[in-house]
Amino acid sequence: MKSISALSVASEIYPLVKTGGLADVAGALPGALHAEHVVLRTLCPGYRPVLAALDKAEPVEDFDDLFGGPARLLAGRAGALDLFVLDAPHLYDRDGGPYSGPDGRDFTDNAFRFAALARIGAALGQGLVAGFAPQVVHCHDWQAGLTAAYLHYSGLPRPGAVMTVHNLAFQGQFPAEIFPALGLPAQAFSIEGVEYYGGVGFLKAGLQLADRITTVSPTYAEEIQQGPSGMGLDGLLRVRDGELSGILNGIDTEVWNPETDPMIAAPFSAKKLAARADNKKALQTRLGLAHEANRLLVGVVSRLSWQKGLDLLLDCLPVLAECNAQLALLGAGDPALEAAFQDAAQNHPGRVGVHFGYEERLAHLIQAGADAILVPSRFEPCGLTQLCAMRYGAVPVVARVGGLADTIIDANEMAVLANCATGLQFSPVSADALAGALRKCNALHADKALWKKLQTNGMKTDVSWTQPARHYAHIYREIAQDARA
Ligand code: ADP
Ligand code: GLC
Repeated sequence: MKSISALSVASEIYPLVKTGGLADVAGALPGALHAEHVVLRTLCPGYRPVLAALDKAEPVEDFDDLFGGPARLLAGRAGALDLFVLDAPHLYDRDGGPYSGPDGRDFTDNAFRFAALARIGAALGQGLVAGFAPQVVHCHDWQAGLTAAYLHYSGLPRPGAVMTVHNLAFQGQFPAEIFPALGLPAQAFSIEGVEYYGGVGFLKAGLQLADRITTVSPTYAEEIQQGPSGMGLDGLLRVRDGELSGILNGIDTEVWNPETDPMIAAPFSAKKLAARADNKKALQTRLGLAHEANRLLVGVVSRLSWQKGLDLLLDCLPVLAECNAQLALLGAGDPALEAAFQDAAQNHPGRVGVHFGYEERLAHLIQAGADAILVPSRFEPCGLTQLCAMRYGAVPVVARVGGLADTIIDANEMAVLANCATGLQFSPVSADALAGALRKCNALHADKALWKKLQTNGMKTDVSWTQPARHYAHIYREIAQDARA
């Protein structure tokens, strides 16, 4: 098969910089697509940790003034990643995270920080660097959305463009006043271009102008074409229905491998499930939970935000107590939710254990040691933690939305009879329905033989990137364009 050259434009990339699943996807796609004969290089911003991780980086281009300061484009590797890094100190050399400062507030110049990324993404797509001529540019989320606009309005031959929506809640919406500084022609400020509710919409631009749109599950692809889930973009997405598809995410099955994972207490496999008990014990120790081998231990690894529905879990703490179950929660985000879970831990010593912050190692231990993993999201484009859970023999208990609905087979009677159930789904996303799911989970957990089937069915499920990579490669091949003049 003929190989394809492609460029991915992403604002986060695992393991260098990550606030959520977008980083995991951007980090895993190049390796996954390799098997499909796609050579995918990635452009990302030169945040401090990215520059620090670069090995033998070479400057390949200089810019005197890129949105207010000089910048350089570097090419280099970081581990297995083949990167272009936009080194623009006035935009990216800062304390804090990729989008906000240490005080948690968004940087006030995010429009220009990501317009710069998009602009260079488009230029790379059109032959900026000798010897690199991608036939496809793949833009991730709003931060890369303008890439499609720069390509479209360049008036030059351009590669095919894919816009992937990882989360429609983040749209990159800015006031009209920024438009002149973007360097786009005047006609771009229109409904057919970047204009969005009177301002400039970065994601809207990508959705409007890319050749193909993907999102990260088939159900989410349907949901976002309707009412509230479409968050203002449902009309546009309905118009582009023919170019929109849902491709589930995978997980990196090397990083998430219970047989070799150096971050867990004891390796295990579907055949050696008993060894999971050591991880449960280690997790209980780590979070100050009582050493109870047989109680249901429910785990959560999540951003703490409205999307993730964890306020519903707070309402269900009495149900957990009634079930004699334990809770292990790792999360970061909304200070009110953190405070509420901190209180819960204080009020239920030995039964509720919490840790706030971002901690990879504990995330792995929770997946390896918890009996069930709870994901009660109000909406979830794909979700990765339920995929990790299946791989680690933790039974996912999920809201029936988005990618959660598509990846977990609910333990209803027929699925149990057919021996294909992998978890529990509940609907609607309410405290009552969650309470019901937790009670059912506790009852299933008490049935050792049935529980083991749920675990092993999950562990047998292919959660790798193999299938998703095929779908992406197929789309790339359909839209590939040679942009060399
Ligand atoms: P989202 O991208 O909406 O946050 P996903 O489920 O797609 O949700 O991806 C979340 C990723 O971040 C997973 O890899 C998960 O393990 C990880 N994660 C989330 N919160 C934490 C945390 N507090 N510490 C460590 N890893 C976390
Ligand atoms: C977003 C979504 C999540 C998805 C991830 C990677 O952060 O919230 O559901 O799994 O992107 O696509």
